[in-house]
Amino acid sequence: MKNFYRTAISLALGLFAASAFAQDFDAIVADCNGCHGDDGVSQWTDMPTIAGMPEFVHADALFIYRDNARPCAVSEYRQGDTSRPARSMCDVVADLDDATLEDLAAHYFALPFVAAKQDFDPALAEAGSAVHDRLCEQCHSEAGTNPDDEAGILGGQWMGYMETTMAQYLAGEREQPKQMERKMNELTDDDVKALLHFYAAQQ
Ligand code: HEC
Ligand code: HEC
Repeated sequence: MKNFYRTAISLALGLFAASAFAQDFDAIVADCNGCHGDDGVSQWTDMPTIAGMPEFVHADALFIYRDNARPCAVSEYRQGDTSRPARSMCDVVADLDDATLEDLAAHYFALPFVAAKQDFDPALAEAGSAVHDRLCEQCHSEAGTNPDDEAGILGGQWMGYMETTMAQYLAGEREQPKQMERKMNELTDDDVKALLHFYAAQQ
């Protein structure tokens, strides 16, 4: 009998904990979407779409932000209650534990990536295609749209975000795989510009 009560109580507590967790998790996701857009699909050129982002790359990015090891600009909320104080990615994940960061990465990987509808220069995009094939396609296949590469989604990502993050790599402010760094160091300013238009053209 004692065991029965103990089981009943721990079951009830377990259910309570599970639903409290679900509420917490939903609230965290709603917070993310306040900046990244509904279902992680951004409408703003400086804000990356995170839907469909490869799970390990996403989790890794969140761990790196939590370690304050990647530039994280302070940003305003873009929708919902936009009077909330502006925060950086480093602030956003500061108090989240490993399991929550991994669950967030899994949550967004299950949502479809939607390529940004944005303007680009067709001549620059064509020049960028050649640069991409020569230096980047090896790891970022299918014009940087293939999530199976575990290397982030470049094709269809917003140009404003891509411009910032490329500049951070080139300035040595964001860590990158050694082999990628070698290729990045071969890029001229014109190559970088052409690549940005090439990735923007993948719609
Ligand atoms: C206050 C606005 C804001 C909130 C809230 C926010 N983000 Fe961000 N996030 C940004 C901005 C701005 C960037 C890009 C620039 C940077 O790194 O600072 C970014 C970048 C990212 C990146 C890097 C994308 C890439 O391709 O490497 C990931 C992943 C990410 N956010 C996930 C999340 C998750 C998950 C949440 C919720 C826990 C979240 N963000 C909440 C503003 C926000
Ligand atoms: C040896 C493989 C390799 C090569 C070559 C390579 N990359 Fe990467 N790239 C990666 C991996 C792995 C990641 C994800 C890990 C990370 O963010 O550090 C990545 C991430 C990125 C990101 C960040 C995406 C995001 O969501 O923020 C950009 C931008 C990028 N690469 C651009 C390039 C460009 C442009 C080239 C060619 C000049 C290139 N890469 C060549 C492996 C490579």
